[in-house]
Amino acid sequence: MIKETLEAIQAQALKQISESDGLEKLNEVRVNFLGKKGELTAVLKSMKDVAPEDRPKVGQLVNETRAQIEEVLKNAQEKMERMAREAAMKSEVIDVTLPAKKNNVGHRHPNAIALEEIERVFIGMGYEVVEGPEVEYDYYNFEALNIPDGHPAKDEQDTFYVTKDILLRTQTSGCQVHEMEKGRLPIRMIAPGRVFRSDEVDATHSPSFHQVEGMVVDKDITFSDLKGTLAQFAKEMFGEDTKVKFRPHHFPFTEPSAEMDISCFKCGGKGCRFCKNEGWIEILGCGMVHPHVLEMSGIDPKEYTGFAFGVGLERIALLKYEIDDMRLLYENDIRFLKQF
Ligand code: DAH
Repeated sequence: MIKETLEAIQAQALKQISESDGLEKLNEVRVNFLGKKGELTAVLKSMKDVAPEDRPKVGQLVNETRAQIEEVLKNAQEKMERMAREAAMKSEVIDVTLPAKKNNVGHRHPNAIALEEIERVFIGMGYEVVEGPEVEYDYYNFEALNIPDGHPAKDEQDTFYVTKDILLRTQTSGCQVHEMEKGRLPIRMIAPGRVFRSDEVDATHSPSFHQVEGMVVDKDITFSDLKGTLAQFAKEMFGEDTKVKFRPHHFPFTEPSAEMDISCFKCGGKGCRFCKNEGWIEILGCGMVHPHVLEMSGIDPKEYTGFAFGVGLERIALLKYEIDDMRLLYENDIRFLKQF
């Protein structure tokens, strides 16, 4: 009688285990059949109705049933856990053959690349790189460069004034004065920096751009030194075959003054769209430092002479990288900058 009951319990338990669809359900089955208030415990409690001589036998039967249910439960649980692990591994699998995500790394600005090139050339010739203030006294930007009040050159440059005597520098040439005032001779320096002019923005103008100033002051410096130095600079920047041409010009702070052209590095001088069929491209202003400029900064022009030059950094960058609109240099469009 008890034997049949146990068999029925076992069959019922195994059926429920096989129908379980998860660990929670299995636990329910465990509690229902093996727990303190479970069906097997109920059978044990009914032992008092069993004849004493039969009790060991019945006890053994109950234990066997319990052991079997436990065994099946354990196997079912292990199986479910294994399946869960395998499913997780399948869903988390990494396909190492997929293309990697591209990191968006920063790029150097064409201005920065061009400046680094210019600095490399002049450092190679023994020049020092210095900097001057962007907010400047009228004296350094104009007066000490031989551009007194009322001078047309002062009106030509549309200056942003901060006060009557303080302005945003319109040129890096004031760095020449700062350098001379240090009283250390000889001077061999370049001074890169931002300059400001109240210009309208277009393909070739911006209210803020950059120049690189250059200056050499020593005994016996001649125009030949200027030519040799700038010809070498042009070769290193634009290629070994680059020729230079000096056209007379006027700057208040140099005498004589010139503008330097380079032979078009696109067509070699034959004339093309790039050089507007000229064969030559204007690249910088230069000249021998005006004796009056030396004198105003405390250098004796009878003992010392010098040359100076000023290059537009954007102009070099636009030429070198064949960019036809200056605005591209200021918009910081990542699609543009990515190319450099
Ligand atoms: N400061 C001049 C400009 O802004 C450029 C320049 C010309 C600088 C001749 C010089 C120089 O040092 O000698 O147009």
